[in-house]
Amino acid sequence: MSNKMWGGRFETGPDAIMEEINASIGFDQRLYAQDIAGSKAHASMLAAKGIIDKADAEKIVAGLDTILSEIDAGDFTFQRALEDIHMNIESRLAVLLGPAAGRLHTARSRNDQVATDFRLYVRDTIDTLDAQFKDLQKALVEKALVHSGTVMPGFTHLQTAQPVTFGHHLLAYVEMLGRDRGRFRDARARLNECPLGAAALAGTSFPIDRFATAKALGFDRPTANSLDSVSDRDFVLETLAAASIAAMHLSRFAEEIVIWTSPLTGLLKLSDRFTTGSSIMPQKRNPDAAELVRAKIGRIAGAFSGLLMVMKGLALAYAKDMQEDKEGAFDALSTLSLMIAATSGMVRDMVPDEKRMKDAAGSGYSTATDLADWLVRVLGLPFREAHHVTGRIVALAAGRDVALHKLSLADMQEVEPRITNEVFGVLSVAKSVASRVSYGGTAPKNVRAQAKRWLKQLDKP
Ligand code: ARG
Repeated sequence: MSNKMWGGRFETGPDAIMEEINASIGFDQRLYAQDIAGSKAHASMLAAKGIIDKADAEKIVAGLDTILSEIDAGDFTFQRALEDIHMNIESRLAVLLGPAAGRLHTARSRNDQVATDFRLYVRDTIDTLDAQFKDLQKALVEKALVHSGTVMPGFTHLQTAQPVTFGHHLLAYVEMLGRDRGRFRDARARLNECPLGAAALAGTSFPIDRFATAKALGFDRPTANSLDSVSDRDFVLETLAAASIAAMHLSRFAEEIVIWTSPLTGLLKLSDRFTTGSSIMPQKRNPDAAELVRAKIGRIAGAFSGLLMVMKGLALAYAKDMQEDKEGAFDALSTLSLMIAATSGMVRDMVPDEKRMKDAAGSGYSTATDLADWLVRVLGLPFREAHHVTGRIVALAAGRDVALHKLSLADMQEVEPRITNEVFGVLSVAKSVASRVSYGGTAPKNVRAQAKRWLKQLDKP
């Protein structure tokens, strides 16, 4: 049987393999709600402009609503022979309405239709992700507030560097997620132009009102160039780039969760709800959720570079290559959503081992910088000299395998005779973090102030 939509020019139907490689209904059926919304706006505009009968437009809109509830209810049979979501819906409309259904496709093409559908889909998804990001930020800020004074080791090179607070560490991710949300917001603002009415590539001779359809679909304005309208997929790329960066942030946090829950550090506990056991080793509690969050960036960054390669070198305007824009993007965006949900779950679930954190914070001579700063502040040494003196004191302590504050005053005076007892006041990890009051520093009172600032901001709608 030749094709219902373009059978006029064709004598036979497609080869089975042609049909298999060509069909997108297996994945683009996800766009049904956006496709129906676009078609309804288009039909209403056509009637308002007198291009089709009002009565026909009303039938079309009612028919599309019927189809929407059929699909919602799982009562719709998608057919591969009909290629994609656009033709599946239109052909069902023809069954419901008869010839009037055929008027819907006046002054449009699947090229502007799919570009519109996909923009609507990406826009909706960005809005859902934003709410999820916000929830994750809230979870982090609430935990940070509880742990504004919980001391843990801060690392550089994954070596103990200086004591920080757990709350401060969590707020670092709140900042990153804030920028991630900004990137998605920017992408959303740029994509919010409506391609509908660009038709196949050149525009149309019908007196359509693109401003009306743009408005009806919540776009800021119609796109200004018909060729660009049907050729552009950079709105997807930009969204996937933002998704890749956000996933990278989540992956870094996940790696920290893996390290901190390892018995090697034992800094953090996850409950049974966010760990799994081993089928052979009864003692195991594996942080699988964190590991998967760490790993799943691969699919997201892969979708980004995959689509970049699809679009590279593609001459204007539409080519079927562009149908390859969807699967990766669908997968990447739902993967990111799952990553955020799992991370929020772990944040709410996690309990730091405050004693181990504090002990670890004090190990590895983590307050050596505090000692050097004291030498500068109290004895007036230039920092470079203070660094050298401190280095010798650390070497002395390391030689005896004791912590800095376990050295005696006499030991320290051997290196620098002017040191007084007062120095022991800065060697504890609690004093160290409390002294880091510079703006953005880790002092508990800074952390509380930043957490409160964030809470206020996150409570805004
Ligand atoms: N399924 C197609 C896609 O996703 C819809 C556009 C088809 N347009 C065309 N000229 N064949 O790209």
